Amino acid sequence: MPHLKNWDNRTWLSSKEYIESFIKFLIKNKKLNKDSHILDIGCGRGKILGKIKTKLKLKNKPIGVDLVNHKNKDRNFIFKKTDAFRFLKINKKKFDLIIIKQTIHFFPLNKILKLTKSCHNTLSENGKLMIFSINEKQSQIPTFNKMQNKLQISYKKDSKIRKKISTNFNNIKYNFFNFKVKIKQKLYLAMIRKRYISILLKFNEKELIKGIQEIKNRYPNIINFKDSLICLTISKSD
Ligand SMILES: C[S@@+](CC[C@H](N)C(=O)[O-])C[C@H]1O[C@@H](n2cnc3c(N)ncnc32)[C@H](O)[C@@H]1O
Repeated sequence: MPHLKNWDNRTWLSSKEYIESFIKFLIKNKKLNKDSHILDIGCGRGKILGKIKTKLKLKNKPIGVDLVNHKNKDRNFIFKKTDAFRFLKINKKKFDLIIIKQTIHFFPLNKILKLTKSCHNTLSENGKLMIFSINEKQSQIPTFNKMQNKLQISYKKDSKIRKKISTNFNNIKYNFFNFKVKIKQKLYLAMIRKRYISILLKFNEKELIKGIQEIKNRYPNIINFKDSLICLTISKSD
């Protein structure tokens, strides 16, 4: 599959409001302080890590792992351009918080437990692993028909992943992160054009142009919608 290049490239997902609201959610669900060690698997441009570093005045720069090395990354984190498994295999550090945000569906189903267990082994004594995926019951991502079909397939995979994890770990906590998005249709169409989400990566030009027209007809000039995520939290101590 081609790489995802524009997920958090000046979209609401890298906006100040989104990042601040997301960090608030993290801090609410995991006590963190300036000594905390944090890892983000599939960190993208590292905007979340960068902001958390400055907000908590972390002594140690957080670490982010991704297959893609973006030019406009945040400066306040240590970036490792590598596959998650490769990093976890050679890593010797323990982390108080490991985030896997909207990334776990990139892994094959038969590797999910290996990944989750490996992260669990990498947690410090009171560490937490937080896995985020789209909350299909609440999320209102604007789509065109073919995109919606792909999204449904992706939701099914997410649901299988969550089931697999929850049957293999005790005391998993479920939380929800909700964010109200207000975006100009023009800007959202530019995101679609740049294939911001992985379900768009395999569409050809014709399909994309048809989809853009569908969105123009279906949504107003300013689009308001809810972006909602399910968070599974696995604690080391449970
Ligand atoms: C949808 S983006 C999410 C980025 C970020 N977590 C966020 O929510 O803003 C998924 C990211 O996972 C990365 N990724 C996919 N497979 C990976 C792997 N095997 N190892 C490390 N990163 C991976 C992709 O390159 C992409 O940047």
